[in-house]
Amino acid sequence: MTLWYLARAAGVVAMIMFTLSASLGILTSGSRNPERRFWLQYVHRSAAATGLVLLVAHVIAVIADAYVDISPTVLVWPFASGYRPFGMVVGVLALYGMVLAAVVGAARGRLAQSEAFTKRWRKLHIAASAGWLLSIGHALLSGTDRGTPWMLAITIGCLAAVAAAGVYRARSQAERASTPLNLARVGRTR
Ligand code: HEM
Repeated sequence: MTLWYLARAAGVVAMIMFTLSASLGILTSGSRNPERRFWLQYVHRSAAATGLVLLVAHVIAVIADAYVDISPTVLVWPFASGYRPFGMVVGVLALYGMVLAAVVGAARGRLAQSEAFTKRWRKLHIAASAGWLLSIGHALLSGTDRGTPWMLAITIGCLAAVAAAGVYRARSQAERASTPLNLARVGRTR
């Protein structure tokens, strides 16, 4: 059972890491302070990379474990999974979203000179937000611990963290929009 417990633990920590990354990504794009942006971006990427490593461990462990029968083909055709098929479909879509976001993120540095790519980058990066939301749905649908108070607290905490980051960003954008330009300039020189 050790592998089964490790698989589930890796899934839970991956979900937390993706939540941290999503929240910091929202705060980064709303921040105007270069130094703050740099650190937010740094931790945003590090959390995403850690989440991806844990996600790989989660997937390998659930496939390798003998407690439930999950074949590697689940990654291309999750509908046929004998174990919680709907939850697996949602989990595999979450995985696709995260992998797409990682590939696009890695390509960003290399293709930064291309204006066309930079324009499309933000739209493609939405795959990460979709992947994050799907990963929450997957945990609620397929996790053994989904009904336990601690897992519910973690899942609600993840949703609340991203919602709070979204509200904070929307409020600071609204404040900036309602501040007359000259007042904003005076504020910056103080
Ligand atoms: C972004 C992608 C994913 C994340 C963040 C994630 C995370 C999680 C979480 C948090 C749980 C609940 C663990 C528990 O309640 O103890 C879980 C369960 C599970 N996941 Fe994933 N998962 C992802 C993708 C996948 C994929 C692609 C597969 C297919 C191989 C998979 C297979 C499973 C299985 C079989 C369970 C059920 C474990 C149980 O019965 O408790 N997951 N996952």
